[in-house]
Amino acid sequence: MLVLGVETSCDDTAAAVLLDGRTVLANLVSSQDSVHGPFGGVVPELASRQHVRHILPILDGALKKAGIELKALDGIAVTFGPGLVGSLLVGLSVVKGISFRWGIPYVGVNHLEAHLLAVFLEREVAFPYIALLASGGHTLLYLVRGFGKYLYLGGTRDDAAGEAYDKVAKMMGLGYPGGRVIDQLAQNGNPRAVSFPRSRMKKGSFDFSFSGLKTAVWHYLSARGEDKWEAQKVDIAASFQEAVVDMLVAPTMRAARELGVGRIVLAGGVAANSRLRQRMAQETEEEGMAIYFPSPALCTDNGAMIALTGHRWLERGRRDDFGLNADADLTL
Ligand code: KG4
Ligand code: ZN
Repeated sequence: MLVLGVETSCDDTAAAVLLDGRTVLANLVSSQDSVHGPFGGVVPELASRQHVRHILPILDGALKKAGIELKALDGIAVTFGPGLVGSLLVGLSVVKGISFRWGIPYVGVNHLEAHLLAVFLEREVAFPYIALLASGGHTLLYLVRGFGKYLYLGGTRDDAAGEAYDKVAKMMGLGYPGGRVIDQLAQNGNPRAVSFPRSRMKKGSFDFSFSGLKTAVWHYLSARGEDKWEAQKVDIAASFQEAVVDMLVAPTMRAARELGVGRIVLAGGVAANSRLRQRMAQETEEEGMAIYFPSPALCTDNGAMIALTGHRWLERGRRDDFGLNADADLTL
């Protein structure tokens, strides 16, 4: 089965072609980082307009790269939520048009489900597993018991982990998106140089909170003044990152222990973080657990994970009609 996956939920226009649910024939992403960079975050109106500009060239490019024509497709998968509504509508409307014109069935895909399943693009993982989904818009912990069986364990009470990275990067004038820049900067820094606070939740909770840390960084920077902290920014980046990683690792490991699940999957843009990967690898090894993380390009938003999730729905006979609408607040 040949499935086209289309993703426009935030600021990446992405398309992929997937053969038989496992072979990625093409996986293209058109990033809008340079458009949103000067604002230090995604500007929704600009994002929608960029999707309108890039969606057809990206679709065309993915089909060409895969060496197939549109009419060879057996199905199309498109993200219909959650995300920015104007962005979602671009992908969804284009896919509906193609589906209508060519008579190709399509399904709407939940972006969160796609992140949780992205790992299957590269390897098989046995169920159940604990999934930490940390991105620019979400920080969520699930027990994944099977395809379509997702038990919510906890989530952020304020900022998402990626959002904290992006906001701290903005405070420090490091550009957007901030995750990758801080990750790189932190490689040469001392993670214990500044002791930023770690928020702790009530016993038994698997929730996260990052806004206290963000405020602490802001106070630290303001108290020092730019001429002082500029020279120290590598250590600040490493210390901030260590705090984020501590706060992501603790509830994830605790969930695995308390639920007696020995497999953990990382997903979402922040799962590309080198320190998080290193720490999770260490801790799971110590406890005899298995850790799985997709390649960085499959952690951040991409069309391949949408195609994979769509493939699984299509093979179960699901078809969506043209009444399907974008849902900015879609949950899993
Ligand atoms: O999954 P994603 O591409 O988009 C959303 O669904 O949000 O995640 C983007 C987020 C951004 O906040 C970005 O700063 C963060 O993932 N990110 C990282 C890294 N690469 C991307 N955060 C930490 N370390 C990284 N290496
Ligand atoms: Zn995402």
